[in-house]
Formats: sequence, C-alpha cells, structure tokens
Amino acid sequence: VTAQPEPSQTEIALLATAVAQDHGDALSASRSLFSLPPGITYLDGNSLGAKPASVNARVNACIDDEWGASLIRSWNDHGWWDKARNLGDRLGRLIGAAPGQTLLTDNLSVNLFKAVASAIRMRADRSLILADRTSFPSDLYVLEGVVSLFPQVSLVLSETPDDSLQILRDRGSDVAVVLFNHIDFKTARRLPMHEFTEAAHNVGALTIWDLAHSIGAIPISLDRCDVDFAVGCTYKYVNGGPGAPGFIYVASRLQQPTQREQSAQQQSGQQQSGQQQSGQRQSASQPIQGWWAHADPFAFETSFRPIDNVMAFATGTQPILSMVALEASLDIWDDVDMNAVETKAGALTDFFIHAVNTLAADARIIAQLRCGSPADATVRGSHVIFHHEHGYPIMRALIDSGVIGDFRAPDVLRFGFAPLYNTFAETLHAAKVLVHIVATKAWEAPEFNIRGAVT
Ligand SMILES: Cc1ncc(COP(=O)(O)O)c(C=O)c1O
Repeated sequence: VTAQPEPSQTEIALLATAVAQDHGDALSASRSLFSLPPGITYLDGNSLGAKPASVNARVNACIDDEWGASLIRSWNDHGWWDKARNLGDRLGRLIGAAPGQTLLTDNLSVNLFKAVASAIRMRADRSLILADRTSFPSDLYVLEGVVSLFPQVSLVLSETPDDSLQILRDRGSDVAVVLFNHIDFKTARRLPMHEFTEAAHNVGALTIWDLAHSIGAIPISLDRCDVDFAVGCTYKYVNGGPGAPGFIYVASRLQQPTQREQSAQQQSGQQQSGQQQSGQRQSASQPIQGWWAHADPFAFETSFRPIDNVMAFATGTQPILSMVALEASLDIWDDVDMNAVETKAGALTDFFIHAVNTLAADARIIAQLRCGSPADATVRGSHVIFHHEHGYPIMRALIDSGVIGDFRAPDVLRFGFAPLYNTFAETLHAAKVLVHIVATKAWEAPEFNIRGAVT
C-alpha cells in the first residue's frame, strides 16, 4: 500500500506545518541517540520504546567485562547488588520521587500485587479495594488475585475514574486502597493526580497509581501529589527494552517507621502490638518477602527480617543484563527536560489528530475515523486513538506500509508518539497512509485479516 503520489492543497499546508514544527523542535537532537530502522515510521513507543544506539556496547561490556571477566565478584565490584535501588533513584527524576522511594524490580503486575497487599495490611479495618473498569485489564486480574487471598476484602469496580470519586464520597470509610491509571491505555485520558489522590486521602484511603503510559510521556510529581504507591514499566517510553524491569514507588513516609519498629521488635523478641496482632500494619510491608528484602541476606537467618529501606520491596535476584540495558536509556533520560517532552507530546498528538481529520474530510471518510482521545492536550498523554470497525486489518495494512502502531480490541487504532525521536514529518506521513488505507479499502486484502497472537 502506498500513499497518493499527488499532494493536495491540504497536504501541502500540512507539510509546511510539519517542516516548521520539526525546525523548531527543542528535542530534535535526541533522535540520533536511538537506532530506528530506515523506512519505518515507528508510532509504538508507548508499547515498546525504540532501542538506544548505545545499548549494544553497554550490554556487551557487561557480558564480557563483568559477567565474563569478573564473574561473581561483579555483585560487589560492578554494583550489581545495588542496581535495583540506584536505578530506581535515577528513574525517580522522571516521576518526581526523591531518592529512596523507587525500586527497579520485577514487572508492573508483580509490583502492583505488592503495593495492594501492603495497602490492605495498612488498612486492615477496611473491606474494599476500589478500581475502575477502564483500568488496564491485567491490573484488575491482579486485584482479583489479591482479593482471593484476603477473605475480608472485596473488589469494587466503578465504571470510570470519576465514578471512583463518587464511591469514595459515598462509601469512602470502607475503602482501603484505590487504584488509578494515570493515563488511560486506550483513550490516553490523563487524570489529575493531585486532585484524585486528595479525594482518596480525604476519606483515609491509600492510593496506587499505574504510570505505565505516563512515565517518559509527561512530567510526574509523585512526591508533590502525596501519592502513596505507584507502579510502572520501563519498556515503553523509557526505552529499557523488551521485558525491561518494572518499578515500584513507596512514599518514604509509609516505609520507615514500621520497618524500624518491626526489626526492633523482632530483635528484642517483644510481643507484637495489638494492632499488629489484628493484622493492621502502620507502614508498608509487602508479602513476597524474599531474601533480597532481608535486613541481612547473607546471614541466611531462618526467619524474615525486613531491611529498613525501599529494598524491602524487592524479592529475589534481579535481571542484571536487562538493568544494564536500561542504564543505556537512562543515560539519555538523565538529561531530558520533562516539560519539553510534555510540550512536544502535546504538539505531536495535536498535529496527528488535526492531520487525520483534515485529510479524512478531504477524502470524504471523516465519519469512518472517530478520534477517541481527549481533544485537549493538557488532559491527554502521548498517544492517540481512532476508532474504526475494521481497526485490526487497517493496522495490519499500516504496518505493511511501514507505519507501526497497534490495535486494541474491539476497534481501536492506537498511535504512540515518543517525543524523544518522533518527528512531525513522520506524523504527517502516518496520517496520510492511514487515510489512504481507509479511503481505498486497502485493508480488505486477505493477508491483513489474519490475526497474530500479539496485536
Ligand atoms: C497500563 C498498564 N498497566 C499494566 C501493564 C502490565 O505491565 P507488565 O506486563 O509489565 O506487568 C501494562 C502493560 O502494557 C499497561 O499498559
């Protein structure tokens, strides 16, 4: 499938805008820090971010010099043991977290389990976990799993995040913890973190924020918003690579006191307080308590004694090669101005929506492609969706043309814009190819209608 060869007046005007925007792009230099295959317009950085150009050398050095030459000494000599915490602190800059609160470990789903279980133990006198049906479904599966382990707790699913606020007003005193997805994985709607966290705190509930689609797309201020827990992944906008480790944020005000209390208690063999006997914990403590979270892991004590810092949220041995790959991307992110990222995210997504709508109007197919993302960039993330009843084969045809986005059932065409490397010119190209495929019905070809396992 190829786009129309003759540019229309609309296309010429859009091209002029794209050229001007690319010319004034404050982040244009960062594109060269990534390896992108020629001929591909990559609009899926919100699912799997592009590869930092330096990653091969970085991982190879770890394989040869650290694993190969230093062998097991690398746990000390090359800082392997401390990577989860050190990289967590580096990542903290992207999420507005002061050091000591973010741990790079496991994946988002496992970290969510830890956060919810911790929250329930801290609100043992309350019976509800609250989430909304627009959450990423895997998050809801995790919550169901947690509920199956805590017989006194049930899961309440509201229809939307706004409905969750209503439930907090109506039944807030029963709610132990509420989950919010910061940016909706389908629509890209952005929730006001401060306001929603405050609504939960007003009724004594704890908050967990899923940052999967916001980290690396917009500035995040976990500390300033007084968030309790947050979880996220680093393989999307952060460019950590396939299966890159996830992270968990635990506000320091929740971490410190009880862990000190607990270890003091366990060391002195004191009886547990009445609150702890009833299951209620003063501060966060997660139940997958492996040796990496132990206060003295190499003492190999028979009983668990949590360490007095964010490592208490680790479990077992960390994936060092994946962490080293992520380091290559953090070398880039360390210097990035997140306000510039947000500005460009808004401009790219605005331009894409405008280009698709304008070109679709010219092609008389405007009614077929309905934008499902907020029109206002300040309440949107860095991806955009269009609905079309034949979304799946349309996305297959787009990918066949070199424009890579993704499809989300039942009818969502999703395009992620990575401000560090996507350009306005390729954004326009993607809009033209999309409109062309819909207008010509190129998606009807049988090869685009065969479903793969991953969409
Ligand atoms: C919003 C959101 N939450 C949770 C997850 C699950 O993350 P993981 O598979 O890394 O546990 C994803 C994965 O894409 C996601 O997009």
